[in-house]
Amino acid sequence: MGLSAALRLLAVSGCLLLLCGSSWGNNATVPLVIWHGMGDSCCNPLSMGSIKKMVEEEVPGIYVLSLMIGKTVVQDTENGFFMDVNEQVSFVCDQLSQDPKLKGGYNAMGFSQGSQFLRAVAQRCPDPPMKNLISVGGQHQGVFGLPRCPGESSHICEWIRKMLNSGAYTDTVQKHLVQAQYWHDPLNDDLYKKHSLFLADINQERVVNETYKKNLMSLNKFVMVKFLQDTMVDPVDSEWFGFYKPGQDKELETLQESAIYTEDRLGLVEMDSAGKLVFLATDGDHLQFTREWFNDNLLPYLR
Ligand SMILES: *[C@@H]1O[C@H](CO)[C@@H](O)[C@H](O)[C@H]1NC(C)=O
Ligand SMILES: *[C@@H]1O[C@H](CO)[C@@H](O)[C@H](O)[C@H]1NC(C)=O
Repeated sequence: MGLSAALRLLAVSGCLLLLCGSSWGNNATVPLVIWHGMGDSCCNPLSMGSIKKMVEEEVPGIYVLSLMIGKTVVQDTENGFFMDVNEQVSFVCDQLSQDPKLKGGYNAMGFSQGSQFLRAVAQRCPDPPMKNLISVGGQHQGVFGLPRCPGESSHICEWIRKMLNSGAYTDTVQKHLVQAQYWHDPLNDDLYKKHSLFLADINQERVVNETYKKNLMSLNKFVMVKFLQDTMVDPVDSEWFGFYKPGQDKELETLQESAIYTEDRLGLVEMDSAGKLVFLATDGDHLQFTREWFNDNLLPYLR
């Protein structure tokens, strides 16, 4: 071998070694996709921005994608109130399937309504594969009430309440109001089952879609965090997939007592017995936790 060829080989292997150091060595991390809640956006430095930064500090080299629904932060925030949720989910599925960094799979962490939206992604879009789904204050059986709204959005909430009361299950309201799409009226169970375009579909109220079951069951873990002093979610039990017993709005039932589980409509029975369902609780109001709590309880699912 001539000198120049040897040098070239050295250069190439040096380069490979360097690549090994930076791209393989540190990239044993699983990427994380996060979806913000109502009234929030991908990039608010006080919320999702700080979560992203915190995770990046705790897990060096991790790729964190904070989803923006739409083209700008303003659109992203508005879409959290007004964009058809089924369309939001397909928008996200497209984005994830086109991201080369997610090819090998990813963990997902949803905040508030972002949690049930990410569960829809898990059920509908298995490629790339979601590994762990972490629901932080999500409402897997929806809400029946909107007691308080986050931050600046209280005037929007007044209007939303009016729309929900005037007919949450009419087609127009369903298509244009995000919160109507996970509105679960236990007093009108038939209406909910028949006309809820999003939640009743992903919760298999009308038909059992075997694909949804199979996809959800392929998660490693489905972690649900409940906030014990939550003043925004009604009923709070929805954060652990529980809800009011049908036909009334006083008595609650746990996930394990409800039809979605007893009839095994979503594969949750098998997931439960395989130890894939994790129920965590923390003191504090909606989405209020400390970094220490996060590190102790959620970080292990992101490694
Ligand atoms: C590996 O991590 C680096 C940052 O540490 C990132 O730039 C690169 O895109 C990652 N590669 C893959 C394949 O995820
Ligand atoms: C079941 O879900 C898959 C994935 O979203 C979808 O392609 C299919 O059309 C659904 N089947 C039924 C019967 O709704």
